[in-house]
Amino acid sequence: MDQLDRTVPEGRLVARRTVLEMGCGLVGLGLLAACADDDRATLPGPTPTTWTAPAEPLRFPEGFVWGSATSAFQVEGSTTADGRGVSIWDTFAAQPGRIDDGSTGDPAADQYRRWESDLDLMVDLGLQAYRFSVAWPRIVPAGSGEVNQKGIDHYRRLVDGLLDRGLHPAITLYHWDLPQPLQDAGGWAVRDTVDRFAEYAAVMFEALRDVDATWLTINEPKTTAMVGYAGTEHAPAIGDLDAGLAAVHHQLLAHGKAVEAFRAVGGQGSIGIALNLMPVYGAPGAEAAASRLDAAENRLYLDPLLRGEYPDEAIGSAAGQLNADRAAFDALVLPGDLQTISAPCDLLAVQYYGVAGIDKNGTWLEVFPPSPAGWQQVHAEGLYEMLVRLTDDYADLPPLIISENGIPDPDAQGQIEDPQREEFLRTHLQQAARAVAEGVDLRQYYAWSFLDNFEWARGMTQRWGIVHVDYETQRRTPKASAQWYSGVVKANAVAPV
Ligand code: GCO
Repeated sequence: MDQLDRTVPEGRLVARRTVLEMGCGLVGLGLLAACADDDRATLPGPTPTTWTAPAEPLRFPEGFVWGSATSAFQVEGSTTADGRGVSIWDTFAAQPGRIDDGSTGDPAADQYRRWESDLDLMVDLGLQAYRFSVAWPRIVPAGSGEVNQKGIDHYRRLVDGLLDRGLHPAITLYHWDLPQPLQDAGGWAVRDTVDRFAEYAAVMFEALRDVDATWLTINEPKTTAMVGYAGTEHAPAIGDLDAGLAAVHHQLLAHGKAVEAFRAVGGQGSIGIALNLMPVYGAPGAEAAASRLDAAENRLYLDPLLRGEYPDEAIGSAAGQLNADRAAFDALVLPGDLQTISAPCDLLAVQYYGVAGIDKNGTWLEVFPPSPAGWQQVHAEGLYEMLVRLTDDYADLPPLIISENGIPDPDAQGQIEDPQREEFLRTHLQQAARAVAEGVDLRQYYAWSFLDNFEWARGMTQRWGIVHVDYETQRRTPKASAQWYSGVVKANAVAPV
């Protein structure tokens, strides 16, 4: 556990989003059944692969869309410009000790002012699409009520700038920057936020009604719920698992209501939600614990969306489960909610970073060496497994896209020569191509991230960009991986090495 960059303020373990960090974090809060840090078994790991990449390049289907991604709070800066309201991340980042290097959302990568040259750079690199997010507090500064036309105008210009350059817009509506006034009223732990989100979403659908965009409603509801509400490492830092589970349901319901609004507006394009999913591997004898952890990490989100029901296994007091009161959770689910949540979407967006391991006591295990992010156990084949499993398990699965996939540089300065990232992207794209060859309907891929940016609690100390940003000058320099990725896009294929 030592190599994981976890912080332990006041005896509490708080963490990012995975088993390794969050599982034990929740135990620290008395919420998970078991997590013995000093009793770590060595997990044999998943069955070794028999698959090797063929000598010839693996091709992607005609029309496959290639892009890169960012989110508003991580890149925009200008947090008080043009009538923007305050978000929970502004509040959180301003609190001493929350962000490793004390950085805030300003200036981040200054993209609010530099978007035109950033789009030009995407064109230079041959990218075809850009996934960005809309900052809710720019559109509805108080979270409800008055709409800020200047905010809408900014994103209209950005979208037009993309279209003018032949780039496809992939627009996330919620990437964690909740308007602070909504948090003051309870945030995602309360049901009222669902309707506020649907109203805001409708404003954006109306404003960009004519645009053939890929819309993503909510980015990683699990991270918001489990790291921001159950845990305290992300805003709004509540530290209450029941609030976390309420945030799960309310975000999924907000997604469903936004989809309803999209259909009502008659917007062009397609819509879905972005889920961070991870294969879970059990140590010998830990099959039941692994299944429960899979329920907590994956099926708690997938099943309501794709089957209209919550899994029985996710919540309870056994190893691998979220140790909360199931009856209290069930009471939040009102008649009709699951129908709303499971209304058909046009796509499901998968965010893939790695895998998790667990032993029979519920201890989270390191199965593969972590990236410099600590929480990220890198295993490219897990992506293939997840894509195939989704296709096998869910009869009503819509087409898939990969909306995030990436790795940080080894250190805070970052590298222009970044062979680790090239290797990461290549091996993951090979596994994606392998899944496609076996019948998985995968349509788009977005590398995380286009730019080095504000990496949440890690501030500016962790660089995930394929483009390096000098934070003194805001100068952009494509890393070697960006040049390599450019070749993949051009060929619509990934070569073996
Ligand atoms: C996420 C995020 C990104 C992170 C990335 C690396 O959805 O977790 O969308 O904002 O920066 O995952 O941690």
